[in-house]
Amino acid sequence: MKRGQWSNQWGFILASSGSAVGLGNIWKFPYITHHHGGGAFVLVYLLCVALVGLPIMLAEIYLGKRSQKNPVGAFRFLKQESRFWPWVGGMAVLCAAIILSYYTVVAGWVLHYVWLSLKGGLPGTGGEEAAHYFTAFAGDSALQLFYHTVMTAGVMAIVYRGIQRGVEKANKILMPLLILALLFLSAYVTMEHEGGRALRFLFSPENFSQLKGGAILEALGHAFFTLSLGMGAILTYGSYMDRKAGVMKSAICIVFADLGIAFLACFLIYAILFSQGEEVAGGPGLLFVTLPTVIEQATGSQLASALFFVLVLFAALTSAISLLEVVVAFIVDTFSWGRKGSVLLAGTVIFLMGIPSALSMGWLSDHLIWGKTVFDLLDHFVSNWLLPIGGLLTALFVGFVANEKGMEEEMKQPWPMLYFLWRSVLRYVTPVLVVLVIAKTTGLII
Ligand code: PHE
Repeated sequence: MKRGQWSNQWGFILASSGSAVGLGNIWKFPYITHHHGGGAFVLVYLLCVALVGLPIMLAEIYLGKRSQKNPVGAFRFLKQESRFWPWVGGMAVLCAAIILSYYTVVAGWVLHYVWLSLKGGLPGTGGEEAAHYFTAFAGDSALQLFYHTVMTAGVMAIVYRGIQRGVEKANKILMPLLILALLFLSAYVTMEHEGGRALRFLFSPENFSQLKGGAILEALGHAFFTLSLGMGAILTYGSYMDRKAGVMKSAICIVFADLGIAFLACFLIYAILFSQGEEVAGGPGLLFVTLPTVIEQATGSQLASALFFVLVLFAALTSAISLLEVVVAFIVDTFSWGRKGSVLLAGTVIFLMGIPSALSMGWLSDHLIWGKTVFDLLDHFVSNWLLPIGGLLTALFVGFVANEKGMEEEMKQPWPMLYFLWRSVLRYVTPVLVVLVIAKTTGLII
């Protein structure tokens, strides 16, 4: 069967940026950066992106583009006789399914907050009332199931329409709107609030003493998550690239887009928070409790909160699309099924897998596994284990195993020097850093 293809190189860059830009950029990055005191942490994070994120992203795009296959097929294609490597691809597909199963739950929360702000019913101006509301909402099992269903169905409907008419088109509409909304809110904030202080906080790296223990490892883990690495999304999107499209240039654009939006989100959030003197709460608190009330107080308008949540919803949606596409590509390639049947199958299975997460703060809140709710357990297991391991194996595979001539031709353009730099970093620097993260997470080193 004929595989889908992006309409041009920008289609690929836009969709991959859509995958990378998500809740990680708008919710998690601002919170961890604030936690570690700003500028110095940003510098560490930038190093992690340069030494781990970008090299693995190049490796994933290469694997996809060269093989024109899903993750399992890609590893098989480049190492025909191996029985081990296709399993690495299989792990990536599984990872994508697991992440999507709970990502739609969080996206559902965002959808609910869009609705609340549109009808003018965002909970209270006091932090406590908002926190109360959020806990009650997350514990309302029937409502959670409803939103989980709506979000999964929405993502399925887009992927169902195919690469150009579904995935690419959705990104072409949603990404520019996201950027516009972000720029609009930021411009507003610069004039009215502490824009200058927010910038200094982000970009003057003098506060190394404020870096908390584990800062480097946290920065590294986040680089994986935010760039959608280690679970086959970028690889799968790469498999729909045109043979002539450049890998180096595309990867650099995606990384810059991801960084740019993360910084804009930080700027917006800090500028408002600093002018309100609020403490930044972590976890779901930042997005669903502190921010809505603060934005409303700062701008005096419900519409600003609605715009903000719509922006977050778009970011989450374009990431969720890429996760479903990984599983769909796998089914289409492996069993030669049509896209429509594959979307229905993958979507239904992932929907069912997500039910325990949707109920984890409601009906299942008493059922803890190792002291964690199902939702927390899945997130912990995937972010701390599966993504870094997947990334490490991908780096080793492209660095040492898939050592073929085609790679040089493909990756040398347009900057041959960068090719050699990338190869050496991918072989000798990236794996060591990732092993350090894994050792840290497992408690082998403290
Ligand atoms: N990169 C997305 C974010 O920052 C999350 C994600 C991870 C999306 C893995 C797809 C795959 O929120």
